[in-house]
Formats: sequence, C-alpha cells, structure tokens
Amino acid sequence: MTQQVITTQDGHVQILRLNRPDKKNALTGDMYLGLADGLNTAGENPNTRVVLITGTAGCFTAGNDIGDLLNQPAGDHPDGDNRPFSQFIRAIDGISKPVIAAVDGLAIGVGTTMLLHCDLVYASDNVRFHLPFTDLGLVPEAASSALLPQLAGYAKASEMLLLSEPFDSQTALSIGLINRIFPAASLEQETRVIAHKLAAKPPQSVQSTKALVKKNRGDIASVITDELRVFTAQQKSLEAKEALSAFLERRPPDFSKF
Ligand code: COA
Repeated sequence: MTQQVITTQDGHVQILRLNRPDKKNALTGDMYLGLADGLNTAGENPNTRVVLITGTAGCFTAGNDIGDLLNQPAGDHPDGDNRPFSQFIRAIDGISKPVIAAVDGLAIGVGTTMLLHCDLVYASDNVRFHLPFTDLGLVPEAASSALLPQLAGYAKASEMLLLSEPFDSQTALSIGLINRIFPAASLEQETRVIAHKLAAKPPQSVQSTKALVKKNRGDIASVITDELRVFTAQQKSLEAKEALSAFLERRPPDFSKF
C-alpha cells in the first residue's frame, strides 16, 4: 500500500509529507498515527532539530476524512481523547523542537487548525483555508477555539469559526496565521532553506526560545481536552450526521428540521 505519511530525513530536518492525493490528503486514523509517530520520533532523535510538515503539489490537506467522522464517532474513549486525531494534536502541541509547515492548495479543518501549533508557516499564493466546523455540525478542535481568538481577535475568530467562510493566503497573512507567501512553484524549496537555517542554530537555544514563546499561550492541553469532549458529543448528533452524509452523497445538507 502507498505510504500516506512519508517520513524522510534531510540533514537535521525531518520531513513529514501527507500523501493521499486522490482523496485530497484527507486525514485517516492511520495518517494521524503516522504524524504522531513522526513527531514523537523527531522529538527523541538527537539528529533532528526541525520538523517540516507538508503535503503534495497543490494540496496540503482537505482535513479529517469525512467517512471516518461519520463512522467512527468517538473511538473507544468516552471523550474521544485517545483517538488518533487526539494523539496527533497532543504530539504537535507537546514537541519541544520547532515545527514548520509548507502549505499549498487546500488547508481545510485540521489542515488549518494544525497550523496554529506550528512555529513557522509558509503558504503558496494559492491556498484555500477553511474552518467548516459549523457547516459540518461540528465544533472547533486542536485548541483553535482559544488559539484563533488569541491570534486574530475575538471578532475575526468568531466570524471564521461561526460563518465558516473559506479565506485566502493574504487573509491568513493579515491575521498572523502564516509568516510569508511564496509562489507555489518555489514554496517547498524556500521553506526547506528556512528549515535548514533554523536547524543550523544552537538547538538548546532554539528549543528554549520556543518554550518561552509558547508558555504565554495558556493551558492549551486543557482546551484540547474540553474541545474533544464537545466535539465527540456533537459528532454523534443528528446535525453532524446530516452534514457528513450530505457531503458523501454529494447533496446539499438540510438543517431545517433541527
Ligand atoms: N474526507 C474524505 N474524502 C474527501 C475529503 C475529506 N475531507 N475531501 C475530499 N475527499 C475526496 C472526495 O470525496 C473525492 O473522492 P472520490 O474521487 O472518491 O469521489 C476526492 O477526495 C476528490 O475530492 P473532490 O470533492 O472531488 O474535489 P474538488 O476539487 O471538487 O473539491 C474540496 C475539493 C476539498 C473542496 C472538497 O472535496 C471538500 O469540500 N472536501 C471536504 C472538506 C472538509 O469539509 N473537510 C473536513 C474538515 S473537518
């Protein structure tokens, strides 16, 4: 079977590449576990100083696999807190080494919210960011309900999370979600240059700086726990069932009955 998360080492940089292009790199449980494992391995490997997460040409990720959301409502934990998604988010929140993302094409759902946990984010001029949780009968995850208002302010974050409108790279830049925009053709190369530049710096200084910057973001682990509880409850709702089924059946959802 084709590997859907490809891990490679480029000097001191570990690259995690999402690789399910026929499904727009939609994330399955196995892919979350692959990402979590890659991050945990990077954290322990003394040869790795920086992690770079990217996707395939024209696609970062279309977010959580919708079939999985419909058919695997909670995993085997009442609050969903040991599901593969949770393992990934805990890993990216917990890693002490810097994480960089190179984002092209689609960054939907967790494709956008995981960026809130990256230390540097570079995007192409052709990205569709989208937080479609209310359109799917769901709620924000990956601590985005706290991290997005911290970044963008209450009004903008509420607009993005309640109205669920897609936004482009310029908007992402203006709210501070990304650091810089590159042409799609040079995005990965430019990002690798920055990753190597960071990896050449004294590693303890870099990691301590990351820890100090992150400390002021508050108790993000608790936010992840709270969100997972509400997300899991909402995921089992008839609203979510209608929205997720509608996507799979390629029809508009009907929320008039709720
Ligand atoms: N979960 C599962 N499958 C997905 C998916 C997802 N999140 N996103 C895309 N796919 C699949 C499609 O079902 C389709 O599969 P098929 O070829 O077997 O029918 C394939 O990927 C290509 O997607 P398609 O919708 O045909 O491409 P598009 O270019 O017309 O649209 C998107 C791309 C991303 C706009 C659209 O697929 C979409 O809205 N996806 C859902 C995004 C989402 O809501 N994610 C969940 C966030 S919590």
